[in-house]
Amino acid sequence: MRAADVSSDITRVLVTEEEIRTKLDDIAAQVASDYDGKDLLLVGVLKGAVMVMADFSRALPTLVPMDWMAVSSYGAGTKSSGVVQIRKDLDTDLHGKHVLIVEDIIDSGLTLSWLLENFASRGAASVEVFALLRKPEAAKVVVHCKYVGFDIPTEFVVGYGLDYAEKYRNLRDVAILAPHVYA
Ligand code: IMP
Ligand code: MG
Repeated sequence: MRAADVSSDITRVLVTEEEIRTKLDDIAAQVASDYDGKDLLLVGVLKGAVMVMADFSRALPTLVPMDWMAVSSYGAGTKSSGVVQIRKDLDTDLHGKHVLIVEDIIDSGLTLSWLLENFASRGAASVEVFALLRKPEAAKVVVHCKYVGFDIPTEFVVGYGLDYAEKYRNLRDVAILAPHVYA
Protein backbone atom coordinates (compact mmCIF):
# COMPACT_ATOMS: atom_id res chain seq x y z
CA MET A 1 0.00 0.00 0.00
CA ARG A 2 2.38 2.76 1.25
CA ALA A 3 1.85 6.40 0.12
CA ALA A 4 1.16 7.53 3.66
CA ASP A 5 -1.33 5.59 5.73
CA VAL A 6 -4.61 5.37 3.89
CA SER A 7 -5.64 2.01 5.34
CA SER A 8 -8.78 3.50 6.91
CA ASP A 9 -9.93 4.61 3.42
CA ILE A 10 -9.51 1.10 2.05
CA THR A 11 -11.79 -1.92 2.51
CA ARG A 12 -9.17 -4.36 1.24
CA VAL A 13 -6.35 -4.76 -1.25
CA LEU A 14 -7.64 -6.49 -4.37
CA VAL A 15 -4.54 -6.82 -6.55
CA THR A 16 -1.03 -6.40 -5.22
CA GLU A 17 1.89 -4.69 -6.86
CA GLU A 18 3.60 -8.08 -7.29
CA GLU A 19 0.53 -9.65 -8.93
CA ILE A 20 0.37 -6.71 -11.33
CA ARG A 21 4.04 -7.03 -12.24
CA THR A 22 3.75 -10.76 -12.97
CA LYS A 23 0.63 -10.21 -15.07
CA LEU A 24 2.24 -7.39 -17.06
CA ASP A 25 5.20 -9.64 -17.89
CA ASP A 26 2.84 -12.36 -19.17
CA ILE A 27 0.79 -9.98 -21.29
CA ALA A 28 3.87 -8.20 -22.63
CA ALA A 29 5.26 -11.54 -23.84
CA GLN A 30 1.95 -12.30 -25.54
CA VAL A 31 1.74 -8.86 -27.16
CA ALA A 32 5.36 -9.06 -28.34
CA SER A 33 4.62 -12.33 -30.10
CA ASP A 34 1.22 -11.25 -31.51
CA TYR A 35 2.66 -8.02 -32.94
CA ASP A 36 5.99 -9.39 -34.12
CA GLY A 37 6.99 -7.49 -37.30
CA LYS A 38 4.00 -5.14 -37.06
CA ASP A 39 3.96 -1.37 -36.70
CA LEU A 40 2.62 -1.24 -33.12
CA LEU A 41 1.51 1.97 -31.41
CA LEU A 42 0.50 2.01 -27.75
CA VAL A 43 -2.21 4.52 -26.92
CA GLY A 44 -2.70 5.26 -23.24
CA VAL A 45 -5.84 6.78 -21.87
CA LEU A 46 -5.01 9.52 -19.39
CA LYS A 47 -4.77 9.74 -16.55
CA GLY A 48 -5.65 6.34 -15.13
CA ALA A 49 -3.45 4.34 -17.52
CA VAL A 50 -0.22 6.15 -16.65
CA MET A 51 1.08 3.47 -14.27
CA VAL A 52 0.06 0.50 -16.41
CA MET A 53 1.55 2.13 -19.53
CA ALA A 54 4.83 2.89 -17.73
CA ASP A 55 5.25 -0.67 -16.45
CA PHE A 56 3.72 -2.52 -19.41
CA SER A 57 5.73 -0.66 -22.06
CA ARG A 58 8.96 -1.39 -20.18
CA ALA A 59 8.03 -5.07 -19.94
CA LEU A 60 8.00 -5.22 -23.76
CA PRO A 61 11.24 -6.49 -25.30
CA THR A 62 11.24 -4.06 -28.25
CA LEU A 63 11.09 -0.29 -28.71
CA VAL A 64 7.48 0.83 -29.08
CA PRO A 65 6.11 4.33 -29.59
CA MET A 66 3.36 5.58 -27.33
CA ASP A 67 0.77 8.30 -27.58
CA TRP A 68 -1.86 9.56 -25.18
CA MET A 69 -5.43 10.57 -25.26
CA ALA A 70 -7.32 12.28 -22.48
CA VAL A 71 -11.04 11.72 -22.28
CA SER A 72 -13.43 12.20 -19.46
CA SER A 73 -16.62 10.36 -18.73
CA TYR A 74 -16.81 10.51 -14.98
CA GLY A 75 -16.51 13.95 -13.45
CA ALA A 76 -15.65 13.54 -9.79
CA GLY A 77 -18.21 10.82 -8.98
CA THR A 78 -18.01 7.04 -8.95
CA LYS A 79 -20.46 6.22 -11.76
CA SER A 80 -19.88 6.40 -15.51
CA SER A 81 -21.96 9.05 -17.25
CA GLY A 82 -21.50 7.69 -20.77
CA VAL A 83 -20.82 11.21 -21.95
CA VAL A 84 -17.30 11.16 -23.37
CA GLN A 85 -15.34 14.32 -23.95
CA ILE A 86 -11.92 14.57 -25.64
CA ARG A 87 -9.64 16.67 -23.48
CA LYS A 88 -6.43 15.85 -25.35
CA ASP A 89 -6.31 14.22 -28.75
CA LEU A 90 -3.57 12.01 -30.21
CA ASP A 91 -0.46 13.53 -31.81
CA THR A 92 -0.03 10.51 -34.11
CA ASP A 93 -1.54 9.77 -37.51
CA LEU A 94 -3.06 6.29 -37.12
CA HIS A 95 -2.91 5.34 -40.82
CA GLY A 96 -1.41 1.87 -41.18
CA LYS A 97 -0.67 1.59 -37.46
CA HIS A 98 -1.57 -1.39 -35.32
CA VAL A 99 -3.02 0.38 -32.32
CA LEU A 100 -3.16 -1.16 -28.86
CA ILE A 101 -5.21 0.94 -26.47
CA VAL A 102 -3.87 0.64 -22.94
CA GLU A 103 -6.57 1.18 -20.32
CA ASP A 104 -6.63 1.04 -16.56
CA ILE A 105 -10.13 -0.36 -16.20
CA ILE A 106 -13.26 -1.24 -18.13
CA ASP A 107 -16.33 -0.53 -16.04
CA SER A 108 -19.49 0.17 -18.08
CA GLY A 109 -17.42 -0.07 -21.29
CA LEU A 110 -18.93 3.19 -22.54
CA THR A 111 -15.63 5.08 -22.76
CA LEU A 112 -13.88 2.33 -24.71
CA SER A 113 -16.69 1.59 -27.10
CA TRP A 114 -16.73 5.29 -27.91
CA LEU A 115 -12.94 5.33 -28.37
CA LEU A 116 -12.97 2.24 -30.59
CA GLU A 117 -15.54 3.82 -32.87
CA ASN A 118 -13.55 7.04 -32.95
CA PHE A 119 -10.32 5.22 -33.86
CA ALA A 120 -11.99 3.04 -36.49
CA SER A 121 -12.52 6.14 -38.60
CA ARG A 122 -8.85 7.18 -38.50
CA GLY A 123 -7.42 4.49 -40.79
CA ALA A 124 -5.61 2.29 -38.29
CA ALA A 125 -4.60 -1.14 -39.61
CA SER A 126 -6.04 -2.66 -36.43
CA VAL A 127 -7.27 -1.51 -33.04
CA GLU A 128 -7.18 -3.76 -29.98
CA VAL A 129 -7.52 -3.18 -26.25
CA PHE A 130 -5.48 -4.11 -23.22
CA ALA A 131 -7.23 -3.34 -19.95
CA LEU A 132 -5.47 -4.08 -16.68
CA LEU A 133 -8.80 -4.45 -14.87
CA ARG A 134 -12.31 -5.28 -15.98
CA LYS A 135 -15.62 -5.36 -14.10
CA PRO A 136 -17.59 -7.91 -16.12
CA GLU A 137 -20.82 -7.44 -14.19
CA ALA A 138 -20.85 -3.67 -14.72
CA ALA A 139 -20.80 -3.87 -18.53
CA LYS A 140 -23.44 -1.75 -20.24
CA VAL A 141 -22.01 -2.34 -23.70
CA VAL A 142 -19.89 -5.24 -24.89
CA VAL A 143 -16.35 -4.22 -25.72
CA HIS A 144 -14.00 -6.70 -27.30
CA CYS A 145 -10.90 -6.60 -25.14
CA LYS A 146 -8.07 -8.77 -26.46
CA TYR A 147 -5.91 -8.60 -23.32
CA VAL A 148 -7.30 -8.42 -19.78
CA GLY A 149 -5.21 -8.37 -16.63
CA PHE A 150 -7.77 -9.13 -13.93
CA ASP A 151 -11.54 -9.49 -13.81
CA ILE A 152 -12.74 -7.88 -10.60
CA PRO A 153 -16.07 -7.47 -8.78
CA THR A 154 -18.25 -4.40 -9.28
CA GLU A 155 -16.62 -2.30 -6.59
CA PHE A 156 -15.04 1.13 -6.82
CA VAL A 157 -11.29 0.63 -6.76
CA VAL A 158 -8.34 2.99 -6.44
CA GLY A 159 -4.57 2.84 -6.72
CA TYR A 160 -2.04 2.03 -9.45
CA GLY A 161 -3.30 5.02 -11.47
CA LEU A 162 -6.95 4.82 -10.48
CA ASP A 163 -8.34 7.72 -8.50
CA TYR A 164 -11.27 8.95 -6.55
CA ALA A 165 -11.47 12.74 -7.02
CA GLU A 166 -7.77 12.73 -8.10
CA LYS A 167 -6.67 10.99 -4.91
CA TYR A 168 -5.04 7.56 -4.40
CA ARG A 169 -3.42 7.28 -7.88
CA ASN A 170 0.03 6.67 -6.44
CA LEU A 171 -0.93 3.77 -4.21
CA ARG A 172 1.10 0.77 -5.31
CA ASP A 173 -1.69 -1.81 -5.13
CA VAL A 174 -5.26 -1.80 -6.42
CA ALA A 175 -7.65 -1.58 -3.47
CA ILE A 176 -11.38 -1.30 -2.83
CA LEU A 177 -12.25 2.19 -1.65
CA ALA A 178 -14.25 2.19 1.59
CA PRO A 179 -17.80 3.45 0.93
CA HIS A 180 -17.59 5.99 3.77
CA VAL A 181 -15.06 7.94 1.67
CA TYR A 182 -17.56 8.73 -1.10
CA ALA A 183 -20.92 8.20 0.62
P1 IMP B 1 -16.38 3.12 -18.22
O1 IMP B 1 -16.67 4.09 -19.33
O2 IMP B 1 -17.56 2.99 -17.29
O3 IMP B 1 -15.92 1.77 -18.72
O4 IMP B 1 -15.27 3.74 -17.31
C1 IMP B 1 -14.13 4.26 -17.85
C2 IMP B 1 -13.25 5.02 -16.90
O5 IMP B 1 -13.86 5.29 -15.64
C3 IMP B 1 -12.03 4.23 -16.57
O6 IMP B 1 -11.05 4.36 -17.57
C4 IMP B 1 -11.60 4.85 -15.26
O7 IMP B 1 -10.82 6.00 -15.48
C5 IMP B 1 -12.91 5.21 -14.61
N1 IMP B 1 -13.30 4.15 -13.65
C6 IMP B 1 -14.16 3.12 -13.84
N2 IMP B 1 -14.25 2.35 -12.75
C7 IMP B 1 -13.41 2.88 -11.85
C8 IMP B 1 -13.03 2.51 -10.50
O8 IMP B 1 -13.48 1.50 -9.91
N3 IMP B 1 -12.13 3.32 -9.89
C9 IMP B 1 -11.59 4.42 -10.48
N4 IMP B 1 -11.89 4.80 -11.74
C10 IMP B 1 -12.80 4.04 -12.41
MG1 MG C 1 -9.46 5.68 -17.51
